[in-house]
Amino acid sequence: MKTVPDIKILGIESSCDETAAAIVKNGRHILSNVVNSQIAIHQEFGGVVPEIASRKHIENITLVVDAAFKEAGLKYEDIDAIAVTNAPGLVGALLVGLSFAKGFAYALGKPLIAVNHLHGHIYANFLEHDDIEFPAVCLIVSGGHTSILYMSEAGHYEVMGSTIDDAAGEAFDKVARFLGIGYPGGPAIQKAAAEGIAGKFVLPRVFLNRKNFDFSFSGLKTAAMNQWKKNNHENNSVNDLAAEFQTALVEILSVKTIRAAQECNARSVLLAGGVAANSELRKMMKFKSELAGLKVYYPSLKLCTDNAAMIAGTAYSQYSKGDFAPLNLNAYASLLSL
Ligand code: KG4
Ligand code: ZN
Repeated sequence: MKTVPDIKILGIESSCDETAAAIVKNGRHILSNVVNSQIAIHQEFGGVVPEIASRKHIENITLVVDAAFKEAGLKYEDIDAIAVTNAPGLVGALLVGLSFAKGFAYALGKPLIAVNHLHGHIYANFLEHDDIEFPAVCLIVSGGHTSILYMSEAGHYEVMGSTIDDAAGEAFDKVARFLGIGYPGGPAIQKAAAEGIAGKFVLPRVFLNRKNFDFSFSGLKTAAMNQWKKNNHENNSVNDLAAEFQTALVEILSVKTIRAAQECNARSVLLAGGVAANSELRKMMKFKSELAGLKVYYPSLKLCTDNAAMIAGTAYSQYSKGDFAPLNLNAYASLLSL
């Protein structure tokens, strides 16, 4: 019997404030997964400073790639292709990973594969689960995107609804920054919320009762800020406000996603993106999905936030189809379609 050769892909990710490299075999087996986070550097500014992010990527990219080869116990020539995120993200940051990937592909004579960062986040589910049934509905929630997608099969996406203003992660980050409780805002709010009581403040569930699957988080964010301005900031109130804000966001996201899944007779619900690391969102999605008879999947915490294993994994099907990128590939801040 003819054996199919193993395909090992090097993934490179530098779209925001993580410099990451990973090697994944056959789109499933993570041989290495190295992430150098710049969070500590951007923390003092309360958010990502694009110029600093690019400069840090330049310093780190070679070290991170070498660490990925070392962790996998492989030599440069052992890989079959180089996959790189080229959109969406901070262009200056993307260009560091992209330029490195091009040079590496050129020097090794291996194909280059362009990967959409959002496809990577969604694929993180497929790195860890091989029993996902279609059709599926995916809630992608990151720092820059919030959408509900219909997936008739793996790699096929139809947008059912999206945020019309802030992304969920962006709202977490902005509110946390306003409250002065740290960056990134999602984990900071989750931590504060664990010590607070939801319902002491009351925030609106914006768009919850609209029939479509769009979201709006800008008004929720402003409502939280206004309530904080009016409040006398006593006792545990910052934690109580964080708890109410998180509860409102989780309710809106989970109710709309389950409704979307029911409307299109989905069998599975997937969560993807950095906000998918939120413990309350994971709990609520699991509870509501099971109640509705749906199977729910989310990546492990390390694969929710930015990493390169998800990029290398996504590239496997592109490799199988010969979907390679030319060496004049460019980087793009946003995407025209998913
Ligand atoms: O996917 P990601 O790492 O980067 C983008 O592609 O944007 O997502 C980053 C976002 C940030 O807004 C961050 O605050 C949020 O994910 N995040 C969380 C949590 N961990 C990260 N939001 C809520 N709860 C968390 N535990
Ligand atoms: Zn991301």
